[in-house]
Amino acid sequence: MYSFVQKFLLSRDPEWSHDFTIGFLKRSQRSPLTGLYSQKLADKPFECLGMNFKNRIGLAAGLDKNGECIDAFASMGFGFIEVGTVTPKPQLGNDKPRLFRLPEHKAIINRMGFNNKGVDYLVEQVKKSKYSGILGINIGKNKTTPDEDALDDYLFCLDKVYAYASYITVNISSPNTPGLRNLQYGAALDSLLAGLKERQLALEIEHKKYVPILIKIAPDLSEEEVESIAASLLQAKMDGVIATNTTLNREAVAGHEHADEAGGLSGEVLTQQSLSITKTLAKALDGRMPIIGVGGISNADDVNQRIEAGASLVQVYSAFIYQGPPLIKELVNA
Ligand SMILES: Cc1cc2nc3c(=O)[nH]c(=O)nc-3n(C[C@H](O)[C@H](O)[C@H](O)COP(=O)(O)O)c2cc1C
Repeated sequence: MYSFVQKFLLSRDPEWSHDFTIGFLKRSQRSPLTGLYSQKLADKPFECLGMNFKNRIGLAAGLDKNGECIDAFASMGFGFIEVGTVTPKPQLGNDKPRLFRLPEHKAIINRMGFNNKGVDYLVEQVKKSKYSGILGINIGKNKTTPDEDALDDYLFCLDKVYAYASYITVNISSPNTPGLRNLQYGAALDSLLAGLKERQLALEIEHKKYVPILIKIAPDLSEEEVESIAASLLQAKMDGVIATNTTLNREAVAGHEHADEAGGLSGEVLTQQSLSITKTLAKALDGRMPIIGVGGISNADDVNQRIEAGASLVQVYSAFIYQGPPLIKELVNA
């Protein structure tokens, strides 16, 4: 079934296919049409971040940016779902075209630029959903917010989503918002983390629940940079780290007609780079903070390697585009 639908979707403009699919999932998710894509998978319970996960395979951020299809993705068997990145105000993102497939490499290049309908809209979608499993909400900053005010945007979103999230991801690693990745370094990172921690503890008292905060990092970091980030995360008592976002590196796709498109590259060509960041992180963190591994995970071996490298949970995006719901089954069984 998926191979037929897939042929059609992969033959159309990538963003058209994305919008079409999200629209269909949104409309069908609470109707008998879910039978077209839902699947029952055996539970593989796993405890992490103080929560019980149905299985260790999650949907990565950016596919359901507005949280419109949570019930649909849940019915496909994901053990956890991450929605967003969402920003305080709605924004259109970059000009189109901004999404490219590189099927020969099972890869994607995107420079979407946090196109989203704003945090209030996302919260409304979460309230409408029937999902009671683990939901991550990934937050970012508006493009027009000056870099020095980034913390304000993250705090604005944190306040809005705190009551509705199982965990919150702070995205400081998208390559498509100018200046964002600078927040990964030194004093800028430390003051961001301190601000987040302070607000998290205040929100814990207000809502009488503790919601873990995870930081999502880029794959384009040296070993020293990863070690320094790990030290900052531990110092600030963050709850976890997601490694990694998309890469600016084009070596693996050199010569491809889309290789020189600006944006972040993801998919199978990212596997080794993300794996190596996970290894460095795991060594530096030494079991003191869980890692969610993401980047080029496309088969059972990738899952096992990532877990051996030190990840507790994994997420998928690009391979899910190329393989559809059968991928979830394969990875859960791994
Ligand atoms: C089209 C597209 C949009 C994305 N948007 C976001 C986003 O909004 N926030 C985020 O944290 N990551 C975003 N990502 C990154 C993914 O969550 C993931 O970290 C990355 O693609 C690597 O995983 P993969 O190789 O399985 O795709 C996006 C990725 C793609 C392909």
